[in-house]
Amino acid sequence: MSIRLEPFSRKHRELLSRFENRHRSLEEYLKHYASQHKDKALSKTWVAVDEPAGTPPRIAGYFTIAATSVSSESLATIPGLGRLPSFPIPGILLARLAVDTNAQGQGLGRYLLEGALGQALQAEEDVGVRLFVTDAIDKEAVSFYKHFGFHVISDPGGYPQKMVMDLLPILKKKRVETSS
Ligand SMILES: CC(C)(COP(=O)(O)OP(=O)(O)OC[C@H]1O[C@@H](n2cnc3c(N)ncnc32)[C@H](O)[C@@H]1OP(=O)(O)O)[C@@H](O)C(=O)NCCC(=O)NCCS
Repeated sequence: MSIRLEPFSRKHRELLSRFENRHRSLEEYLKHYASQHKDKALSKTWVAVDEPAGTPPRIAGYFTIAATSVSSESLATIPGLGRLPSFPIPGILLARLAVDTNAQGQGLGRYLLEGALGQALQAEEDVGVRLFVTDAIDKEAVSFYKHFGFHVISDPGGYPQKMVMDLLPILKKKRVETSS
């Protein structure tokens, strides 16, 4: 794969029809809502465009992010997040993440997740962002996010399941690297 991460825009419209994912809702979101939500300042979507030599470009995956907050009470049992002030804790929500059916299992999900995490860390330079938050769509997604260190915070059993990652350890490391 020869991947470029690009902010989703009108120029990607002609590539949308080929995007496939086993979750219809994730296909539909990209095709019908991502652009509207961007225009209404509700979220931003980033697409991974794959353009192998000699073949037309395609959207191999995408993620959508937005600002969010989580009640500190719901974080009480999560390691490192149990003693926060009793106001909503700010975060960046990874609202959607999907890799095209034909591009899965090749590291693109990791690439997109790390891209979204990079955006969250970038935002923290200007506003408070303590959490990286996601809504896992099913059991496999919960397992995927756990693999990257997310913790479940909503009652187990129903989906989507809200999950969080504490950004503070990463931020502390980043601050040390920047200051040295
Ligand atoms: C989940 C999804 C984004 C993963 O994309 P992918 O490109 O197949 O994932 P990658 O190949 O980048 O895998 C990255 C890592 O996650 C691991 N992984 C992948 N699926 C996993 C799962 N279900 N459980 C645990 N680990 C998983 C891989 O082993 C790999 O580990 P490594 O990098 O440490 O070796 C993709 O399968 C998808 O679009 N699924 C349907 C939609 C979805 O569930 N979206 C996320 C929740 S909304």
